[in-house]
Amino acid sequence: MTKTPLIERLNWRYATKKMDPAKPVSEDKVAQIVEAIQLAPTSSGTQPFELFVITNPETRAEIRKVAWDQTPITDGSHLLVFAAWDNYTAERIDAVTDQLKAERGDLPLLTAYYDNLKNTYLPRDASVNHDHAARQAYIALGLAMAAAAELEVDATPMEGFDPDKVDEILGLKDKGLRSVVIMPLGHREEGADWLLPMPKMRKPLEKLVTRLD
Ligand SMILES: Cc1cc2nc3c(=O)[nH]c(=O)nc-3n(C[C@H](O)[C@H](O)[C@H](O)COP(=O)(O)O)c2cc1C
Repeated sequence: MTKTPLIERLNWRYATKKMDPAKPVSEDKVAQIVEAIQLAPTSSGTQPFELFVITNPETRAEIRKVAWDQTPITDGSHLLVFAAWDNYTAERIDAVTDQLKAERGDLPLLTAYYDNLKNTYLPRDASVNHDHAARQAYIALGLAMAAAAELEVDATPMEGFDPDKVDEILGLKDKGLRSVVIMPLGHREEGADWLLPMPKMRKPLEKLVTRLD
């Protein structure tokens, strides 16, 4: 069977190490990557994270300093910062219920479902809730990477940064947010990236997949 265009694009993409500062990503393409993030499914539909899209050169230079000096942060044109909720709160969950009521109507099961969710989430340790929220942000990260690949935009997902320092630079603490993963967008600088000529390395399927037929 022929491969889908998505699989072809996933083979094309790689965690770009050298981006070309002379080739910014068009705002049209960034908007579609952001839409993929908006459309990402999340547990109970809470979307427990916010996205920062940073083009400001000074802010990106500050972030690069606390992110292992990784050049795509400033050589790319846009930096995405995924910032997850520091905790679940009644207000945050009620805002989801309110939006659902407004857009889908006050279904009887709705309030019961989200009351139950509050009963489960609110007594839990903040770190457990933050970790759960961060996992939702990573689903959006995955879709953003796929959307970028489809649009022939290069993207480097990064955990190599000091989250507390990035939170400080962006003033996230006061917003009840914590940075979890960042991703510069740009275009690869062909001939200058040591990783580009390397073959893609992945576990063989027999080590990744167990089939129980
Ligand atoms: C959550 C996450 C964090 C990562 N952090 C970094 C990073 O800080 N710097 C970097 O150069 N690559 C980073 N990578 C890239 C991985 O090393 C890379 O995706 C992996 O080796 C597979 O290679 P490929 O993406 O080029 O196919 C990260 C990838 C993911 C998914």
